[in-house]
Amino acid sequence: MKICIVLSTRPEIIKLAPLIKILKNNNNKFFLINTNQHYINLMSKVFFDLFKIPKPKYNIKASTKTHGMFFSKAINEIEKVLYKEKPNYLIVQGDTNTALAGCLAGTMYNRKFIKNNHKISIVHIESGLRSFDEMMPEEINRKLIDNLSDILFPPTYIDVKNIKNEKLSHKKIYKVGNTISDILKMNLSKIKKNPILKKLNLKKKEYFLTTIHRPESVDNIKNLTVLLNSFEKIGEYYKKKFIFSVHPRTQKILKKLNKKNSKYINFLKPLEYLDFMKLMLDSKMIFTDSGGIQEEASIIGVPCITLRNSTERQITLTKKINIITGYNQRKILNATKKFYNKKMKKYKLFGNGDVSKKIYMKLISNFKKQ
Ligand code: UD1
Ligand code: UDP
Repeated sequence: MKICIVLSTRPEIIKLAPLIKILKNNNNKFFLINTNQHYINLMSKVFFDLFKIPKPKYNIKASTKTHGMFFSKAINEIEKVLYKEKPNYLIVQGDTNTALAGCLAGTMYNRKFIKNNHKISIVHIESGLRSFDEMMPEEINRKLIDNLSDILFPPTYIDVKNIKNEKLSHKKIYKVGNTISDILKMNLSKIKKNPILKKLNLKKKEYFLTTIHRPESVDNIKNLTVLLNSFEKIGEYYKKKFIFSVHPRTQKILKKLNKKNSKYINFLKPLEYLDFMKLMLDSKMIFTDSGGIQEEASIIGVPCITLRNSTERQITLTKKINIITGYNQRKILNATKKFYNKKMKKYKLFGNGDVSKKIYMKLISNFKKQ
């Protein structure tokens, strides 16, 4: 059994780390292809290092200047690797352009070998998520990836329902949870001991945490202005600072707008995983448009305000531990009030730390059946 994993972005590295660890510990044949969609150290190398992920065998330098340039180079290069390596499985995670590029390369490869034994099984981890907002590039990516993959690993029953509604029931579908629960469990004791609060001179529950990076939140200046003004207002009202981890996409816009630290907003570079998770664990509340952070907040029991018009993590809404506000200051302020003194429970909506093991076992058993 030979496995190819295509990855690059921050959430892919974090969420695939536990499965990669299992493959390594079991001496399985596997190799990584990094598209370099995320390339600065703070979005890439720091996570490879922290989780001791082996160096990718193939590094594709696909320019992210335009999506077209990225896809053409990444698909072409990944397909070449597949011809050379002939893996049995090709694994992608989530909904990024990297995941879709990997999946498309596998599909192109399979067209040629459809009549013999060299077909690669394409595996989609974190399958079935839907925001039902086709303006999000990720929504298109998710749908295409699910359609083109052979084995789907949806995290929750809601995601399974989405898959079935799209008439994809003929695929191999295994509801396993989300590997975010594995990586969090593996690192929780280190997170608790992390010294970042002291470094930033912060006190537990005396600050808010935020990070945003969706095009709708940051490339749309009107929406970004609503968000920044809301943070200032909330900061002033509660006399608490916003610690703002700035994603590279957001950094570009903030620089253009010449935004600097203010009394209630403290902009920081993208944070390393343990620092960020410690800041989240001890924050009063997290304000974000990130997907993975909505999941993490539910696991550690921190109130989450989702600064978007929709979410594909609907299960967090059913438990009332996440509120969607869109880009509306009144709604953001009301949500903050609602959550401010609320004691949150911790939920195991995404599994209990053994999701990657379940995925691994399914891959083994499917391979034996082939
Ligand atoms: C991508 C994913 C998104 C995911 C996010 C995780 C797609 C369509 N989007 O969004 O689903 O939530 O990653 O963080 O795949 N940049 C740098 N340095 C880097 C990375 C990016 O400067 O290391 C710049 C790029 O040049 C680009 C901008 O940030 O101008 C956006 O990067 P891109 O990878 O296109 O999308 P993300 O917003 O990171
Ligand atoms: N994260 C991090 N440092 C930060 C911000 C986020 O390590 O400064 C982690 C976070 O804990 C989560 C993941 O990055 O595990 C989420 O990635 P991101 O928000 O970039 O992508 P999304 O989940 O929205 O696709």
